[in-house]
Amino acid sequence: MTRHFLRDDDITPAEQAEILDLAAQLKKDRWADKSLAGPQTVAVIFDKSSTRTRVSFAVGIADLGGSPLIISTASSQLGGKETPADTARVLERQVAAIVWRTYAQAGLEEMAEGTRVPVVNALSDDFHPCQLLADLLTIREHKGELKGLTLSFFGDGRSNMAHSYVLAGVTAGMHVRVASPEPYAPREDVIADADRIAAQTGGSVTLYTDPLESAAGADVVVTDTWVSMGKEEEKLARLRDLGAYKVTQEIMSLADPGALFIHCLPADRGYEVDAEVIDGPQSVIWDEAENRLHAQKALLVWLLRQV
Ligand code: CP
Ligand code: NVA
Repeated sequence: MTRHFLRDDDITPAEQAEILDLAAQLKKDRWADKSLAGPQTVAVIFDKSSTRTRVSFAVGIADLGGSPLIISTASSQLGGKETPADTARVLERQVAAIVWRTYAQAGLEEMAEGTRVPVVNALSDDFHPCQLLADLLTIREHKGELKGLTLSFFGDGRSNMAHSYVLAGVTAGMHVRVASPEPYAPREDVIADADRIAAQTGGSVTLYTDPLESAAGADVVVTDTWVSMGKEEEKLARLRDLGAYKVTQEIMSLADPGALFIHCLPADRGYEVDAEVIDGPQSVIWDEAENRLHAQKALLVWLLRQV
């Protein structure tokens, strides 16, 4: 049966571990897997800007022996002119998989319902699950194991990144903390889904409004931009509301002495994180950015095996 990856909880804890193991293997032996030989084409569609996602999918698909077809929505019929379902029906006759960065999660769901090839969420307003595979791979490389670690997210708890940390983190058996002002707390349905997964894995989700309390003893400290793509009009309000949730050296000093700092990038130094933290010794952001490549290759290989 065709499997899609639209949210972090579209895969089980065992499947997540399997994909991370495969990513580690592909990282060691980058050219060994030619699952897309032919070359088979993978469509990679962007409604929003991207550097890391665009490059890592294009390079990864080529590494696997395939051919990436990068499509900008503005120059296609998708986005007002043709529905996601009709686009999917056209693409599935010619490509092995569809990767899409978009706004509404509902569009991805429609795309997935309309096609027999795997659809991958390359970031939506609600989730960024590919980023989480890379982040978990990075944390595992530096910490050895994910289960039982405490990860503290600071800032916009209602963002795609925060939601993905909540879901993917508990899937890995981690204790996920989200520190944000109440109006920016994660969506209740996402917390409810995470709680159900946590009951199975031994993980947990805890919401905080006090950033210092949330930092205490954390193994991983994480933040993301305060102004996600599509939220530009709210910029001034967000800078005001989220100012107290900046990741500073004080936050890092409250976390575990061996804590890692991660950030999906792009970063606004001086806003959500101070330069001394993101460019400091605890930061593993460049490993994290590289791991997009290895994690997404593993995801594609794994999804194509399920078809
Ligand atoms: N982290 C991330 O997805 O970066 P891009 O927006 O550059 O793809
Ligand atoms: N939350 C950010 C992530 C960018 C990779 C955004 O959606 O803009």
